[in-house]
Amino acid sequence: MKPLGYSYLYELLGTKPDVVVVLGSGLGSFGDAMENTTSVRYSDIAEFPIPEVAGHDGVLTAGTIGGKSVAAFAGRFHHYAGHTPQETALPIELAAHAEGRYCIVTNAAGGLRHDLRIGDLMLITDYLVTPLSPRLPHSMQSPFRGTKPSGTWISEELEHIARMAAWEAGTALQSGVYGYLSGPSYETRAEVAFLRKAGADAVGMSTVPELLAARKHNIPVIGISCITNEIRTHSHKLSHDDVKHAAEAASARFTDMLIRLIHSLPE
Ligand code: HPA
Repeated sequence: MKPLGYSYLYELLGTKPDVVVVLGSGLGSFGDAMENTTSVRYSDIAEFPIPEVAGHDGVLTAGTIGGKSVAAFAGRFHHYAGHTPQETALPIELAAHAEGRYCIVTNAAGGLRHDLRIGDLMLITDYLVTPLSPRLPHSMQSPFRGTKPSGTWISEELEHIARMAAWEAGTALQSGVYGYLSGPSYETRAEVAFLRKAGADAVGMSTVPELLAARKHNIPVIGISCITNEIRTHSHKLSHDDVKHAAEAASARFTDMLIRLIHSLPE
């Protein structure tokens, strides 16, 4: 067992990570697309929290993609499972301490906007934190204090690279606003109406702390959702298995896009 020092990622990779990837539900096989891999179960990393959701394996894979050093976290720490706000952004904190250059954060999300279909990939151009969201620590929000993030949330350059990667992978790339909710239950009809009025295009229970942590550490970050359910069609029946299966069905396409994206990130 290795102690969890913030230098852990650097030691595992033997170098600074060029890219740290946080994998959403159903993307657990992303590590198979990497080269020169070493995999470590979270349970073998002393002090590392254990994710509690089926479909979140809890495996950290270190390796390379196209010569870039990559650390991929399969399994994340949700607020609803009792993790602290700091823990919900742990992969990004580790990335920052190892001087990671880029972060890519992915998730499964419910589609609120009427044109979003199951299996669509959606670039997160902005996010929505509401009174229904978990409280975020001041330290995460402070980079925005007194400033107004303008335009889309990711840089034009990264958006362009993501769009090219999607095009090469033959997949459409939607864009939209990610609404962050506490969970663990899926939204009620009233909450869906509220989120739509507030301007959310998709909804999920993760990712925003990670985006904010990356911003806090000045690490360029790309957030991408895989739409796993169309909210107008699910009544009360959506289960985590439905989400997982839909995400798995899209995973080959999503992985292909991510690999191309990583190849194209500036050195
Ligand atoms: N709501 C919240 N989280 C989700 C959903 C949803 O509909 N789908 C996948 N994650």
